[in-house]
Amino acid sequence: MIKENENQVLIISGESGAGKTESTKLVMQYLAAVNKSGNNLITEQILEANPLLESFGNAKTIRNDNSSRFGKYIELFFKNGAIVGAKTAEYLLEKSRIVTQAPEERNYHVFYEMLEELSDEQKAKYGLQTAPKYFYLNQGGSALIRGRDDADNYRKLTAAMDILNFERQEQETIVKILASVLHIGNMYFKVIQVRRILCY
Ligand SMILES: Nc1ncnc2c1ncn2[C@@H]1O[C@H](COP(=O)(O)OP(=O)(O)OP(=O)(O)O)[C@@H](O)[C@H]1O
Ligand SMILES: [Mg+2]
Repeated sequence: MIKENENQVLIISGESGAGKTESTKLVMQYLAAVNKSGNNLITEQILEANPLLESFGNAKTIRNDNSSRFGKYIELFFKNGAIVGAKTAEYLLEKSRIVTQAPEERNYHVFYEMLEELSDEQKAKYGLQTAPKYFYLNQGGSALIRGRDDADNYRKLTAAMDILNFERQEQETIVKILASVLHIGNMYFKVIQVRRILCY
C-alpha cells in the first residue's frame, strides 16, 4: 500500500468460529505496531473500539462463545505511512437476540458483564438483580461461560469508553438503557375478563 500508493482491501470471511474476529484483531495490532505515527492516542482509540463492539455485538452461540452477531467494515486512513484515523461501520446486527435466545446461547455479553461488575449499591439504584432473574437473559440457561470473566470484560468496556471520550453521564445513560431493557423483559401481561354492567 505504501509502495504503490494504492488503497488496499482485506476481506476476512468464513463460517462462524473460523477465526475472523481473532484474525481482525491480529491485523489491527500489526498495523498499529508498524504505524509510523507518533500519535498513540489515535491507534489506542482504534484498538479500543474492539472491546466496545464485542460487548454490545457479540454473544455466546452453540458454535462460538464469542460470536459476532453483526458484520463489520473498518476503514483505516493513512498519511505518509502513519494512521491518521479510522471509521467503523457495522451492519446486520441480530436484533432478535435481545428478546430470544436458543438453548445454551446467551444474549449480548454486555448485559451479563454489567450485572457481574456493578456494585450492590449501583444495582440497587437501577433495581437490578442477577442474570438468571431476567427473562431476556435466562432463556438459554447458560448465564456463565467457562473461561470468560464477565466482570473483567465490563472493566475493559468502561476503560474503552473512557479512551473513546464517552462522558460519565453518557456511560450512566447506557447503563440505564440496558437496565430498562431487562425490566421490560420481565413485564408480564394477563388477559382478564371485564364484565360490563350497564346502568340505565
Ligand atoms: N488465531 C487464533 N489463535 C487462537 N485461537 C483462535 C484463533 N482464531 C480463532 N481462535 C479460537 O476460535 C474461536 C472463534 O474465533 P472467532 O471468534 O474469531 O470466530 P469468528 O469467525 O469471528 O466467528 P463468528 O462468525 O461466530 O463471529 C476464538 O474464541 C478462539 O478460541
Ligand atoms: Mg466474530
